Amino acid sequence: MRRVMLTGGAGFIGSNLVKLILKEHPDIHVVNYDLLTYAGNLVSLSDVEDNPQYSFVRGDVSDLQTVKKAMEGCWAVLHLAAESHVDRSILDAGPFLNTNVIGTQVMLDAARFHKVERFVQISTDEVYGSLKPDDPAFTEQNRLKPNSPYSASKAAADLLVRAYEKTYGMHAVITRCSNNYGPYQFPEKLIPLLINNAMKDKPIPVYGDGQQVRDWLYVEDHCRAIITIMEKGVSGEIYNIGGNCEVVNLELVKMLLAELGKPESLITFVKDRPAHDRRYAMNIDKITRELGWKPEHTLSHALPKTVKWYLDSEEWVGSVLSGEYKEYYKKQYGDR
Ligand code: NAD
Ligand code: TYD
Repeated sequence: MRRVMLTGGAGFIGSNLVKLILKEHPDIHVVNYDLLTYAGNLVSLSDVEDNPQYSFVRGDVSDLQTVKKAMEGCWAVLHLAAESHVDRSILDAGPFLNTNVIGTQVMLDAARFHKVERFVQISTDEVYGSLKPDDPAFTEQNRLKPNSPYSASKAAADLLVRAYEKTYGMHAVITRCSNNYGPYQFPEKLIPLLINNAMKDKPIPVYGDGQQVRDWLYVEDHCRAIITIMEKGVSGEIYNIGGNCEVVNLELVKMLLAELGKPESLITFVKDRPAHDRRYAMNIDKITRELGWKPEHTLSHALPKTVKWYLDSEEWVGSVLSGEYKEYYKKQYGDR
């Protein structure tokens, strides 16, 4: 049995990844290491909590002793835990530096101590900054030009991973993925926030002119890419992951409202996010050519499936939205 430590397993991508590994890799034991912040919810994993292939440790990635203990005997580390929401990083960058930067340094130190054979750093397209309409999609050679405290903290973490691989000769790879959608995403991000608001006939806040472009990937495709990279990724390499699916925000919002049978009059243009990245697009030739991964889901099929999941999962949405969410929502959208 190979032991894999997965940080952030109670979050959106992490919980989908835990379930996929348990379903398709009977030779892997998953140690889910998660602090259970506002974004981490064990209710997302209630169907696997008794699985003998699965264990959970509550802890902070910046706490070396607890991390070291949980990592004992692990063959691989999939490091997903992060503060992940750009808007929160603009309100307060502190937790982003602690979790995303110091947390990654601590994870790397522990992995080095235990001589872990695979370290996979889950990063983001946002580290590359923003593209103009006619720019070619980001390749792994693009310079890092982060524009938000979130993306700057992820870029810093990527550089630490690179430095540890070079300095200590430890195994480490970096994945950079575009925007994910699918089940179990916390309703502060565009798609679940929109569904949640629309079902209550509440306004849908669209930032600025809504002409920003994102490249959308179904979360299961991202999870399969991470597993492929854990198994076959070459140490020291960076792999871009994306959906080949650029969509203008306002178009996506309209698509979702149509799917929900709600009127476009719910759309409310609000003050733009500061330093809002205009466009992301990923060139995924490298991972396709070298590791044989490509996205399997299309937006036209997986977006309606995602909407249905949220409509069928009212209880999940209710259980993850604590009083903290109401406070955040007021701070974030109150004066815009
Ligand atoms: P999320 O916010 O849904 O989940 C983050 C998880 O990390 C939560 O379970 C939370 O409890 C945990 N966590 C936070 N701080 C912690 C700490 N100090 N110690 C231990 N656990 C802690 O995030 P997500 O959307 O699932 O993203 C996961 C990873 O993927 C992140 O590293 C993010 O940067 C990256 N990523 C996300 C996307 C996306 O579209 N969501 C795209 C590309 C990359
Ligand atoms: P988000 O889901 O926060 O992901 P990211 O900022 O990491 O791309 O936002 C996706 C896009 O939607 C982004 O361009 C910001 C925009 N957006 C809105 O227009 N309104 C909202 O209420 C939110 C949360 C996002």
